[in-house]
Amino acid sequence: MERSFRGLRHRERQSNRRKGNVKVSHGRYSEIVVLTGAGISAESGIRTFRDQGGLWESHRLEDVATPEAFHRDPALVQRFYNERRAQLPLVKPNPAHLALAELEKAIPGTLIVTQNIDDLHERAGSHHLIHMHGELTKARCVKTGQLFRVTEPLTEHSLCTCCVPASVLRPHVVWFGEMPLGMDRIFQALAQCDLFIAIGTSGQVYPAAGFVDEAVAQGAHSIEINADSSHVSHRFHEHRRGMAAVEVPKLVAELIGRR
Ligand code: OAD
Repeated sequence: MERSFRGLRHRERQSNRRKGNVKVSHGRYSEIVVLTGAGISAESGIRTFRDQGGLWESHRLEDVATPEAFHRDPALVQRFYNERRAQLPLVKPNPAHLALAELEKAIPGTLIVTQNIDDLHERAGSHHLIHMHGELTKARCVKTGQLFRVTEPLTEHSLCTCCVPASVLRPHVVWFGEMPLGMDRIFQALAQCDLFIAIGTSGQVYPAAGFVDEAVAQGAHSIEINADSSHVSHRFHEHRRGMAAVEVPKLVAELIGRR
């Protein structure tokens, strides 16, 4: 049932596109998926992962971002995420985050899917948001999966209050080798969107790097905003090269018709 409905929408869009009804109809998109990566938070002062001076230059991801690392050295892993979490009160949303919150207000069918674990989208006012790689502000019981808001630095001795005896609390982040969060909702949104936008992501980490293919296969238009080219740039219909804090507000103004 779901499949044939998707197929129908796809054929309808392909046929509309052939008639020239859909492509680049800025201001008329109603179902938008925006994928964001570390580049959108760079101008707020949060380091990216793979640019020069990025986090994976000073830390081996195998030491801090895998289940095996947490098993081997929980204190080190907790410290790594404590440092990231301590930065949050010192940074604030930049014009790119704010523009996306405005986009959601103007076009309620907008969904932001972020790979970022910072809280800058929600602080900018976005509500329709999936943190596919988790959230720094939360910890999770390893036994029940219950979430807790983190109010102080976590240690290897941090325990939940949901089990007896209490279980270990881990950062609520997705590590390499783990399944990202919200995938059903994300694929549903990708199948239905008429516009897919990727902002500040290098296209090196799957499944996020494959979202553009999924959306385009269903007939969506696609736009990439990045300071540089990414590993998946060639898969997008349109490119806007530049800083997110400049390019995102420009695009949002076009989309909501304030040119
Ligand atoms: P990366 O560090 O891999 O890529 C950042 C991207 O942002 C690059 O393509 C830059 O060109 C671009 N960029 C940097 N500054 C920018 C700016 N001011 N404006 C626009 N673009 C800018 O970060 P991600 O692609 O987000 O996963 O990384 C994906 C995942 O890999 C992360 O979520 C994390 C990481 O390992 C986990 O930890 C599971």
